[in-house]
This record gives sequence, C-alpha cells and structure tokens, in this order.
Amino acid sequence: MTTTPTTPVSPISPISPTAADAPTARRSLPLVPVPSGTRHGSRSYATCFFRCGLACDHPEPNQTGHGHVQDEIVKAVARRSVLKGAATTSGALVLGGLTAGALGGAAAAAPAAPAAPSAKPMSGDLARAAFSPVGPNKRDAVTVPRGFDHSVVISWGDRVVAGAPRFDAYAQTPQAAKTQFGYNCDYVGVLPLPAKGKGKGKGGKGGTQYGYLARDFDQALLVVNHEYTDENLMFPTGVYTADQVKAIAMASHGMSVVQIKRAKVDGDWLPVSDLRRARYNRRLHIDTTFVVDGPAAGDERLRTTADPTGTKVLGTLNNCAGGTTPWGTVLSGEENFNQYFDAPDGLDERYTAQYARYGISGKGKGWNTVDPRFDLSAEPHEPHRFGWIVEVDPFDPDSAPRKHTMLGRFKHEGANVVIAENGRAVAYMGDDERGDYLYKFVSAGTFDDAGSERAKRRNLRLLSAGTLYVARLTGDGAEDGVSDGTGEWIPLCSDTESFVEGMSVADVLLFTRLAADKVAPTRMDRPEDVEPNLVNGKVYAALTNNSNRGTAALPTDEPNPVGSSMVRASLGAPLTQASGNRNGYVLEMTPGRGGHAGTTFTWDLMLVCGDPAAQETYFAGFDKSQVSPISCPDNVTFSDDGSLWISTDGNVLGSNDGVFRVPTTGPDRGKVEQFVTVPRGAEACGPLVTDRNRSLFFAVQHPGEADTATFEAPQSTWPHTDDFPRPSVVVAFRRA
Ligand code: FEO
Ligand code: CA
Ligand code: CA
Repeated sequence: MTTTPTTPVSPISPISPTAADAPTARRSLPLVPVPSGTRHGSRSYATCFFRCGLACDHPEPNQTGHGHVQDEIVKAVARRSVLKGAATTSGALVLGGLTAGALGGAAAAAPAAPAAPSAKPMSGDLARAAFSPVGPNKRDAVTVPRGFDHSVVISWGDRVVAGAPRFDAYAQTPQAAKTQFGYNCDYVGVLPLPAKGKGKGKGGKGGTQYGYLARDFDQALLVVNHEYTDENLMFPTGVYTADQVKAIAMASHGMSVVQIKRAKVDGDWLPVSDLRRARYNRRLHIDTTFVVDGPAAGDERLRTTADPTGTKVLGTLNNCAGGTTPWGTVLSGEENFNQYFDAPDGLDERYTAQYARYGISGKGKGWNTVDPRFDLSAEPHEPHRFGWIVEVDPFDPDSAPRKHTMLGRFKHEGANVVIAENGRAVAYMGDDERGDYLYKFVSAGTFDDAGSERAKRRNLRLLSAGTLYVARLTGDGAEDGVSDGTGEWIPLCSDTESFVEGMSVADVLLFTRLAADKVAPTRMDRPEDVEPNLVNGKVYAALTNNSNRGTAALPTDEPNPVGSSMVRASLGAPLTQASGNRNGYVLEMTPGRGGHAGTTFTWDLMLVCGDPAAQETYFAGFDKSQVSPISCPDNVTFSDDGSLWISTDGNVLGSNDGVFRVPTTGPDRGKVEQFVTVPRGAEACGPLVTDRNRSLFFAVQHPGEADTATFEAPQSTWPHTDDFPRPSVVVAFRRA
C-alpha cells in the first residue's frame, strides 16, 4: 500500500482582514477547514485545497530523473543554431539557472511603468485595437481598458435547461444543480449556430477547418467546463447536512451547453432566455453517461461493480481547459481527478505504482458516503475511468459524450486539434503537474471537409485511432542568448501497437505517465494549454510555473531555465527573490518536416513571464519598458490576426489575474498588453476571441476564494448580484 504524505489539515485561525478585503457580512466558521499559510504563489490555500487537493504539497508524482539534464545543453553547444528572427536586443535570457547575484540589485526595482498605448486607432476589432493596458490592481471587479466594456453572460446557478428552478443559495439541491450553470467555470467555447437555411456546405455545421470562426452569426452555443467546487463559498452555514453539501457539490461539476444570442451592443452576447426555445441547452453532470471510446475501452481495469463492461462511465470530473474541433465538437480535459477517491480500507496493492504516479492517495473529499463508487477500497478501478479527454457534440443534445482512451490518461489540461498538412487530425495536450510532459496525438484517419452530416460522422471517429506521442526538447546552448532548440515527438503507442517495452497498448493508454517515463521525455514546468496558431502554423504552450524548478531533483535546463524568480509580496512592494520558476513561460514550437503530423520541431521560449524589471524576463526580444507585467500563463487562444491571448492563474506580482494580448509576428511580436483584470481571488480562464474579433469571452473562476473566506464572509461579492461571489462567464467588447 502506498500513500503520499499530505499536509495536516488544521482549523483555520481567523485573521484581521485588510481594508481592501473587508468582508461584507458576519464571519462564520468554514464548512471545510482549510489549512492556512504561505503558498508557492499567490493562490490561496483554499484554491489549492479545493481545486487540486494541494498537489504542490505532495512530492512530484514524476520521480524520474531524465530529460532535464544540464549536459543536454553542453552536448548541444556544438550544434547550436540561431532561431530565425529571434531578436535578442533586450531582455536576453540567461540560461542554465539564474543565480541570486544575477537577479539582485537593479532588478529589484519599482513596478514597471505602465505600458504605452498602442499606436493603432481604436476599433471594435480587439485584435487590432489600440488601448491603454489595464494596470496591475486588486479591485473586486472585472476591469477592461477605457473605451471598452464587459458584461456577465451567465453565472453559477443560472438556469440552463427548461424546468430548472431559479437559483436560491439557501435552497440548493443536487437535482437543481444538475439543471443550473455549474460552479467554477473554466473552458469557454463558442460554436456559431448557422442561421436558418445556411447550415449546409463548407463552413456550416461541422464544416471546414475552423470555418465557423470566420462566419457571421447571431446565435451560438456557449460550452463551458465546471472544474471544481468550493464548499466554503457555496453554502451558508447551518443550512445543509454534510452529505447534502457533498451531493450538491458533486452535481455542480461537469459541463454546460448554453444557447446565446447577439445583444444590442456590438460584441455583447446574452443567453436565450426562453429555455423552451434553447433546444441545445444541456448540463453534463456527475450522473451523465459517458461512453468509453478507443483501444482501452472495456479493459478489465476499467470495470466496476456498476459497469462490468468497462465502457460506460457516469460523469466527468475536474474539467479544466479544452478545445473546439474543426468538426464542431468540444474536447474537455479531466485534470485533477485524483482527489475524489477515499480508501477507508486501504489501497489495492495491485495498483500501488499506478496510484502513486497519478497522485491517488486514498484521501479524497468523502464522496464515498454519498456514492459508493468513490470508495477506492471497494472500487479500485473507478479512478481509471477519469483523467481522459472527453468529446461532446453540443449540436446533438441527445448524443452520448465520449471519453477517448486513445489520447492517453493523465492530468489533462485540455486538447486542441489542428488538421495537419496530410489531412490527419493532430491534438496537442499538456499534463498539468510539476515536472510532467507535453503530448500529441495524430489520427490514423483523415479529416473530411465536406461539411455534410456524413462527413461529420466520419470525423467523429478521428480521435479513436492513431498514434500518441510525448515530447523531448533539447536545447542548443546558451551562447545564442535565447532559450531554444530542437524537439522530437516520441511515439508511445498506436491503436494496434505499443512502442514501450513491457507495456501493452492498453497499459500505455491507461497509465500514460508510466509509459512516458520509460522513453525519457522532457520534464516541463506544468504544461497547461497547448494550442496551434492557424495563422503562423506554430504551436504555443503555457507553462504556468514550478516552485520546485532549480532543485537537485528538478534542475534547470534550456527549456525550463528559470530556477529563481523575482516576485512581489503585494502590489507596489519591491521585487524580491523566490526559488523556482514562479512566473511561467510561453513555449513556441515550430513543426518540422511533415508539419503537425511529423515527429520533429524547433522551439523557443517566446515569453519568460514576470515583471519586466526582473532580469530573467524575456518578451521575444520586445522592449521591456513597453510591456505589461504578466505572471502564470494558463490558457491561450488566438485572434484571427494570429495574436496570442493569454489568461493567467496565480499572479505573484501583487496583482489580480487577467487576460493579455501579444502579437506573435511583426514589429510588435512580444508586446504583452493587459486587456483584462479579474476580481480578487479569481483566476481568468478560457479566453476566446470570436465574432470577427469583436468579442473576448473568458471565465472568472473562483472569485473571492481565500483561506478565511466563507459564504457569509466572502472576500469578494463579484459580480455583485448577491452578497456572495458567483463564478461567471464574461464577454468584453468595445463600448457602444
Ligand atoms: Fe485547472 Fe491546469 O489548470
Ligand atoms: Ca539557445
Ligand atoms: Ca488551467
């Protein structure tokens, strides 16, 4: 039996709130005692506790030692190459780990001056608009640049399907939660609905690659993940029993599909209010049946008492980011699924290594008292049924969503598909754990761009067969002043053949982390979103942070060069040094021969995030006096000019999180400008630029989450419709 050590849970001690964080109601004891103390970043203990089960307090599940060796850099020096166009005029990146001396002195300066407004004229095209970047702040508000506006599209508890009751925080039930918008929205997809009579042909429903992004539309399907719940913020004290809290929390996970329509102001959107006319609306929740798809479906290790076939799973859990496919479906990543299972009678020793590699400790949320399948002692296979990429067809409300075993099992952040030059569907994916890996899948079949229902049925089979790869990145040496090099995609298995010694195809797919460990990929700093840019053909990955980088167990290397970071304890405080990579990177990958379906690439760190006054930061060579500070990139997307939009989670520079715009080509490449800040305690998720660049959608997740926060004493009341916070999807647009 293997268990991983955990931080002891102790009751919180009340602290004096600052004026800025003054609670709006009387204090009460939280429902769930949350440990308090200093976190690795700015995220509260509460966020880490509820979202990922304090994953960073446990040893990294990846205890392998390969892929991060300094000697890779040494070996590569002899064959260094200079990345075309990688300007190094300022902010040149020092490789091989940054020392205290390198970061001290002048680097610990005052906050960077606000970035100057762009020179281009103001317009409703958010990709090209000039704006004065939003400055770092701690407001309990969504803030957008002057001249722009935003509105809340939908909030936790809002009615989604016909028959749903109106939200009442004091009268929540699991049944109601399964019909209302779930908690803690993350991924945001917007899939245009064709106007009547215009649904056929290319660019229509399921049409050519990303064709729907370019069309005009007046209605769309908003598809949103509900990653996790914070019971302390959701439930008033003394109203619910412990089991009621668990059952409602369970039902508040999953996904929502919501029909939205154009509002009066250009760029603004709102839900279709008559739910009888919103026929696509749907809530996928803890009791929704998901079909297991691909080579591992039916495997003995997926079978449970309730599902002896190993092919039907109830629910999807901890859905983080995702992607919209060229055939009009949504992919969603089951991320920190490991934290939902309790083992009161111990762990099944057959799976000691597997549980350990996935962080499954048998210490969960106590859901086993409500639903016996979460009793890991009795149902040792239940966690094997989570940790997948799920695919939902929002245009077919009666379709069964699927869990794709072909895309491997790990802590999936999300998956983003591009059609390769040879017609194959390629899904890029990240495993969000300190020291884990980047993956991609290449389909066996090719994309059918006919735009017909028949073509769509064919395309729906693309993720069922193909080849799964993991990435190894090699640096080309520090002498060129930039962090860059070459990479290869190492095959793990196809749908019929394993390429990992001693493991079958099903072994590789069920326990992908263990398979990858055997082929020496590169251990990365928490790979989050990995998304192809259709304009320039490159692929961008957010590597959010890693407090352990630079330790003996996880030394720096060229792809992960920062082992010591400059942070601010609060807004306006001086920069101080902290161990590890605290501010994250954006990795840029350029496919080599064979394009997206090929097995080689070159790479560079386009952004080394942080305060521009810190020496380690790098903004693709752009003038550091002209960029916004940025910390902890998480989700990425692109406007149709190829500009990168980044949302952040865990700012360690004293500010709230936000959304940023960064051109990827031309003279402004690397010019990071902040477009949004989100309310106190929140992270920004799922940015999406759509409607001809007139609308920026994003999710405000866990507003007000803090160690001492409770329903009665929140640290935020955003969006200020109630006296407690409500996670919500927001759209930003030019002011009318
Ligand atoms: Fe749910 Fe990797 O963030
Ligand atoms: Ca280099
Ligand atoms: Ca994320």
